[in-house]
Amino acid sequence: MAGNARTTFRRTQTDGLQQITQGDSLMHKVLVTGAAGFIGTHLVERLVDDGVAVRALDNLSPQIHGEHGGFPAWRDHPLVEVVQASVTNPAIWDEVLEGADAVVHLAAETGTGQSMYQVGHYNEVNSQATARMMEAIAGRSDAIRRIVLSSSRSIYGEGAFACGACGLDPAYPSARTADAMRRGEWDQPCPRCAAPMEARPTTEDAPARPASVYAATKLAQEDLVRIVASANDIPATILRFQNVYGEGQSLNNPYTGILSIFSTRIRRGLELPIFEDGEETRDFVHVSDVVVAIRAALAAPADQSATLNVGSGIASSVAAVARALNDAFGGSSPIRITGEFRLGDIRHNVADVRRLELVLGVRPAVDLRTGLSLFADWAGAQPLPEDRLAEANDELRARNLMG
Ligand SMILES: NC(=O)c1ccc[n+]([C@@H]2O[C@H](COP(=O)([O-])OP(=O)(O)OC[C@H]3O[C@@H](n4cnc5c(N)ncnc54)[C@H](O)[C@@H]3O)[C@@H](O)[C@H]2O)c1
Repeated sequence: MAGNARTTFRRTQTDGLQQITQGDSLMHKVLVTGAAGFIGTHLVERLVDDGVAVRALDNLSPQIHGEHGGFPAWRDHPLVEVVQASVTNPAIWDEVLEGADAVVHLAAETGTGQSMYQVGHYNEVNSQATARMMEAIAGRSDAIRRIVLSSSRSIYGEGAFACGACGLDPAYPSARTADAMRRGEWDQPCPRCAAPMEARPTTEDAPARPASVYAATKLAQEDLVRIVASANDIPATILRFQNVYGEGQSLNNPYTGILSIFSTRIRRGLELPIFEDGEETRDFVHVSDVVVAIRAALAAPADQSATLNVGSGIASSVAAVARALNDAFGGSSPIRITGEFRLGDIRHNVADVRRLELVLGVRPAVDLRTGLSLFADWAGAQPLPEDRLAEANDELRARNLMG
């Protein structure tokens, strides 16, 4: 079967493969872009475990994979075909879509701070490449039966708030200004009565207010996928991931992943510098819950298109997470609240995940303590990365993006 399975990828017959059932039809050949990345690596592992054939596309970006990076161990699995290419090359799409009946689009540049000065590059990799991909998919609307896009909670900008004083609920404040943050005014005042507001879980119908170039390109991806898929009658699921963490996340990319940066510093016995007052919150979701959501989207009924938050639904302050990570490592790194800030960072983030359960039947299962312990066990066994936090921050300072 193994030999058959590999060649089956290019044929229409599917004997011997256990396939994802999409409604009452079958889904058996999935193109995964950005497959060698953090989420992609877990997803491909899960899909081949389920007997689904995968074409795994990735350019093995050196920022993520180092200069000599390779595809993960599943590259040798008989159900996997790897393609090393950039999504920015418009010539690849016809070839990589050949024989596929579903696409999970994960490939992207993901650094919020970096996106603020590599504007053209982020636009090219995230927005323009998605436009090209959708152009190619539109020409194959008979073959492609599902698109799953990895979007991001960042498209909401500051997200939903409510004012206890005057009752304004919900409020959707716009991005914080550098001047306000320089004054240490971290929380947004109520636009009606100026009292401090409280964050609320953000629902999918909250207005899009991207505050960074990265977020703007993720929103562009959403629009491109939604509009072109709908015009061609292709079901599309747009998943807005919150802060995804877990085993296998890049420990070397200094531009993303607060848990990676902190884990390196804990292992080196260095202090953990925390922006603002440390009370900014994030919604940390374990990668296994994200994979379950993508898997469920691939199996959704054929007539279902949806935009869904994928998160834990729980807000954790960055200072609390730093303490919990210290505990998970058994470390004792001092925590230092710096009062510094990055332009484009949001203050609070927690997802309303009710629609995820309603539409896909998925409920996040890994609590933060368990997830951090899994992450620490894995990260602690990896080669100790360089601590490049100062370098990344200097780059932002030099561009007036950090104060
Ligand atoms: N991890 C998170 O917290 C998070 C949160 C929200 C959204 N997302 C989205 O999920 C997706 C996957 O994120 P991840 O955490 O796995 O990121 P990652 O950086 O680990 O993986 C991205 C992969 O895309 C590849 N890639 C980059 N540029 C490419 C190009 N030009 N051509 C082909 N491949 C390219 C990289 O080599 C990498 O393997 C991204 O679209 C990201 O925007 C992630």
